Amino acid sequence: MIDPKTVPSFKLNNGGSIPCIGMGTFGSDRVTPEEVAGAVAGGIRVGYRLFDCAACYGNEDQIGKVFKAAFDEGVVARKDLFIMSKVWNDMHRRVRESCLKTIADLQCDYLDMLFIHWPFPNYHAPFCDVDSRNPDSKPFSVAEFLDTYRQIEALVDEGLVRHIGISNMTIPKLNAVLDKLRIKPAACESELHPCFQQQELFDYLVARDILPIGYMPLGSPRRPERDILPEDLADMQMPELVEIAKAHDCHPAIICLKWALQRGQLPIPFSVHNYEANLRAAVTEKLTDEEMATIATLERGNRLVKGQVFLWPGANDWHDLWDEDGVIVSCPDA
Ligand SMILES: NC(=O)c1ccc[n+]([C@@H]2O[C@H](COP(=O)([O-])OP(=O)(O)OC[C@H]3O[C@@H](n4cnc5c(N)ncnc54)[C@H](OP(=O)(O)O)[C@@H]3O)[C@@H](O)[C@H]2O)c1
Repeated sequence: MIDPKTVPSFKLNNGGSIPCIGMGTFGSDRVTPEEVAGAVAGGIRVGYRLFDCAACYGNEDQIGKVFKAAFDEGVVARKDLFIMSKVWNDMHRRVRESCLKTIADLQCDYLDMLFIHWPFPNYHAPFCDVDSRNPDSKPFSVAEFLDTYRQIEALVDEGLVRHIGISNMTIPKLNAVLDKLRIKPAACESELHPCFQQQELFDYLVARDILPIGYMPLGSPRRPERDILPEDLADMQMPELVEIAKAHDCHPAIICLKWALQRGQLPIPFSVHNYEANLRAAVTEKLTDEEMATIATLERGNRLVKGQVFLWPGANDWHDLWDEDGVIVSCPDA
């Protein structure tokens, strides 16, 4: 058990605060909803207070039973948890309905943060493979994104959501929307790990007081088949990282988390077997400046979630999703 009071927090741009590390809840098509819920139950008891959920993970109802039991048994009060969820791509025109279902499933009365999971409405079926394509997929549209975002702003006004999050954004997309938002996003969830540091995006967010939240902080060794390509690197096997882990007598996972925290991003590692050790990473000795500098050199452009399954008819390849030339690819209204 780690006393949650000893776990540092990040300040959010509207004055709230958020624990500096959370538990991911995506079973990656490999871990059942029951097992994920079991990890959440254990996570609460070892001191996690932040949980990263999503409608499309298909396990919010199971996790909700765990939250309810923890509240009823007095293990933790609702106000002491920070519960995040995400609107899935097929609900962008029905955000309130999606949010109400998530709140009912999670049995949590309100959400501390609701994210737009992806900035476009392109839907893929659960368990789909890498070649799966939805013919209804479309490129990013500023107007459609703003419409989705405004529905979440209305949920903040209504008291159902405390903070707004965005996810899987690029700098060109952020440039196109940020000055049009009434309520500033508190956080942006992006893929961030030692071999994929997204330094430019990271700096952009920090400069605008939007908290970077890092998903796949360990390089997601058991990610879904659709996100595995032969050229992908395994962050936790990088020799430099293994060396640093040896010096600290810990698993390389713990070094990835310490690096994330010291860099200033909030990691949300998923684990059913190692979650207590991961939380402890936030309260034990720090990496040295030299170790931080070594990990900074591990950037390899190793994007793991390429997002092929979200491509629209006529798109070239997954690079089109990430606006790598500084303009939003095929955007009808940028
Ligand atoms: N916004 C988005 O679009 C988006 C996309 C992807 C993910 N996410 C979020 O990010 C979370 C984390 O991503 P992820 O689950 O893909 O990857 P991850 O957290 O980088 O890796 C999880 C894997 O690492 C293993 N692991 C965890 N701690 C370990 C330790 N101390 N020692 C050794 N192995 C360890 C886990 O195995 P064990 O279970 O055996 O410990 C699990 O297989 C997700 O659960 C989800 O909440 C968000």
